[in-house]
Amino acid sequence: MAFPRTPTFRLDHCRALVTGGSRGIGFAAAIALASAGAEVWIMARQADQLHDAVKSAAAEGLRLNSVTLDITDTARVSEVLETLPDFDILVNSAGLARHQPFLEVSEANFDAVMALNLRATFFISQQVAQRMKMRQIAGSIIHISSQMGHVGGPERSVYCASKFALEGLTKTMALELGELGIRVNTLCPTFIVTELSRANLADAAFNRYVLDNIKLNRVGTLEDIMGPVVFLASPASALITGTSLMVDGGWTAT
Ligand SMILES: NC(=O)c1ccc[n+]([C@@H]2O[C@H](COP(=O)([O-])OP(=O)(O)OC[C@H]3O[C@@H](n4cnc5c(N)ncnc54)[C@H](OP(=O)(O)O)[C@@H]3O)[C@@H](O)[C@H]2O)c1
Repeated sequence: MAFPRTPTFRLDHCRALVTGGSRGIGFAAAIALASAGAEVWIMARQADQLHDAVKSAAAEGLRLNSVTLDITDTARVSEVLETLPDFDILVNSAGLARHQPFLEVSEANFDAVMALNLRATFFISQQVAQRMKMRQIAGSIIHISSQMGHVGGPERSVYCASKFALEGLTKTMALELGELGIRVNTLCPTFIVTELSRANLADAAFNRYVLDNIKLNRVGTLEDIMGPVVFLASPASALITGTSLMVDGGWTAT
């Protein structure tokens, strides 16, 4: 009988690009990937926050490379990717939320959320995957989706629509890119304390609603997504594609 060897969770000799890597979930993903041995590039609009992220990583002995870029500008994304090395791992974490009751959603908010959460994620993934194909890289693409890509949430019609769309995109990317060895999955967090969720979670009634739904009875931390990101990026998940890894404390179990 062949002796089974545990596949590695290490990412030495891999290069990763993390959109939205300057703070929040993207920054935690970048730190997790760098800690696992990857060469990591983070991308966001605000140069000062990128600088702070690089500096705080360096203070812990980790190197991050940064690119200042608005990823909704797809033409510019294409130009910038030409100047960067190829990537084995893409984590799409850049995202935003504009919560409003469905009956009041403005076209401006709809367009802003869809432009980043769906359109920008779609086209940067396309460009990175084209380069993976060209260079025969059996890469891993991870979309930071949400539990709201699987269930509805109050005042979250646009956000949910954008995340359900990512879930569908993932299925088709996985089936088209599988023959190239490229894996595509979503990571679906529940509420994690970040700049995006802080104001909502500060509201006592909303906090109660959140804790009533998270079976493990606590909101998520940045650390909660770090292991799952490394898992989906690494050979430890080699046969996993086209699916969602729920990091939701059991929210969607019911
Ligand atoms: N926090 C939660 O509870 C939670 C739960 C489930 C899923 N998520 C998802 O997780 C992802 C990250 O959320 P987060 O909470 O970490 O948010 P966050 O703290 O607001 O961070 C968002 C990141 O995206 C970057 N970004 C925003 N617009 C961009 C653009 N046009 N081009 C390039 N970068 C851009 C931001 O930097 P700049 O502003 O400098 O560009 C920042 O680095 C999102 O997709 C979100 O939907 C979050």
